[in-house]
Amino acid sequence: MISDNMKIIDGINHSQNLIESVKELILKSERLNKRKPSIAVILIGENSASEIYVKNKIKTAENIGIISKKILYNSAITEKELLNKIKELNQQKDIDGILVQLPLPMHISEDKVILSIDPKKDVDGFHPINLGNLFLGNNNGMIPCTPLGCIYMLKKELGPLNGLNATIVGRSNIVGKPLQSLLLKENCTTTITHSKTRNLSEFTLKADILIAAIGMTEFIDNSYVKDKATVIDVGINRKKINDKIKILGDVNFNDVINKVNLITPVPGGVGPMTIACLMYNTVKASFLRNNHEFKEIIFDE
Ligand code: GUN
Repeated sequence: MISDNMKIIDGINHSQNLIESVKELILKSERLNKRKPSIAVILIGENSASEIYVKNKIKTAENIGIISKKILYNSAITEKELLNKIKELNQQKDIDGILVQLPLPMHISEDKVILSIDPKKDVDGFHPINLGNLFLGNNNGMIPCTPLGCIYMLKKELGPLNGLNATIVGRSNIVGKPLQSLLLKENCTTTITHSKTRNLSEFTLKADILIAAIGMTEFIDNSYVKDKATVIDVGINRKKINDKIKILGDVNFNDVINKVNLITPVPGGVGPMTIACLMYNTVKASFLRNNHEFKEIIFDE
């Protein structure tokens, strides 16, 4: 009998493996550029979730030898001031990556901010040039970190994904849409569903790979899951239970565990991979910006 533990995709372990490869790339980058790779992270306002994400990103960068520059603003900063700061960072030769933590205060346009980042320094992969390249099936631009982390784990766990049915629940620009492009590139048959999809389970029940990225706490129960499906839970939902904040996914883990082939837990699944992929993108930027050849390690096999 297969124990539940054997069905768990260990995102912490996968992220540590990727980080080990990134560390080697950092050393190589340092030899070529005569300096360490670097990232500037901008955080605006007070959002406790964003503060935690940024803290984890900076801590990981510092632990592995990426120089990080944390730039904090209170929410009174104007859009113009922020755009000026990004312009300055774009021009700074010793900055390889720029990340503006989202969401932004209402008075600042997310679109304008993303467009203002030099696509070569856009380690989030949100700039239309990077998303456009991804849409065209090119991997040489920056690829959004969460989808990249999902593909990394899927390929490591399942091997080639050729011909598998992949259904994504959620159509965000950060996860759902880029992940569809990546899965297509891996020769999956892809379906994107969302909050207005009629008879959602008709689509999810066909999925060999089911991606839950809708931001609704434990929405996916076993009635949506095909027998022996591989489930990737992208959700990070905060819920207060007995005065303690618990992080829950978009999938009801206990309800689906008997049915699945493999599943990512929350926490400890997609989250750590997102950070590892940010480190990967930063070192990748440090090669490509300086016209050094970069060999992808995520799509190698
Ligand atoms: N907010 C939630 N996820 C992300 C992310 O991947 N990048 C940025 N910049 N902000 C986020």
